[in-house]
Amino acid sequence: MKRMNIGFLASHNGSNMQAIINACKTGVLQASPVVVISNNAGSGALARAKQEGILSYRFSSKTHPDPAELDLAILDAMLEHQVDIIVLAGYMKKIGPKTLSHFSSRILNIHPSLLPKFGGKGMYGSRVHQAVIASGEKESGVSIHIVDAEYDTGPVIAQARVPVESVDTPEVLASRILQCEHTFFAETLQKIVTGEIVLPGPRANVPKNAVSDTDP
Ligand code: GAR
Repeated sequence: MKRMNIGFLASHNGSNMQAIINACKTGVLQASPVVVISNNAGSGALARAKQEGILSYRFSSKTHPDPAELDLAILDAMLEHQVDIIVLAGYMKKIGPKTLSHFSSRILNIHPSLLPKFGGKGMYGSRVHQAVIASGEKESGVSIHIVDAEYDTGPVIAQARVPVESVDTPEVLASRILQCEHTFFAETLQKIVTGEIVLPGPRANVPKNAVSDTDP
């Protein structure tokens, strides 16, 4: 069984990142969290990384005003730490072309709706749940998709459905969906490890620098 190295990009609380780290620790997910990058100096994600002893960086338009340099800084950090898969755990920025190209089909995002519904620019956090409730949907959910150059448009690889109750406020729905996200992301990543979900592209499902547990 292969172990894959995960590099995180996260902007805010990082509870999805924490759930994945926890799954790695318990063995539910056979992967290793190796680096965390946040654009937000005060993010919970950076605090969690420190607490977990995972190397972390704050890279943003403040540290790297040139978008091309920011892209390269992110790519270099992911390469330096031998990342196999980049996980966007509540990351609210676009990914630059060099990182996208090098990690083609190996960058995954989680979004709190059933994409393609309720995705795109400006659709994040409670705005998503407000829109779902306002449109009278009976169900919402969680989508995990491959990241491309736009917001929430890449191919969906897994979805989980969550009911919307008639009495739901955006906060209540957000909490129900977040709870689902916390198990679903790790489960989906483990399916990639085992080959149950095959990512597209020329490379093997578990990328070339992943190391087998049984290798000497
Ligand atoms: C999660 O609900 C995630 O789906 C959402 O941000 C939240 C991050 O929570 N992402 C998006 O809306 C992306 N468009 P977390 O920081 O506690 O993991």
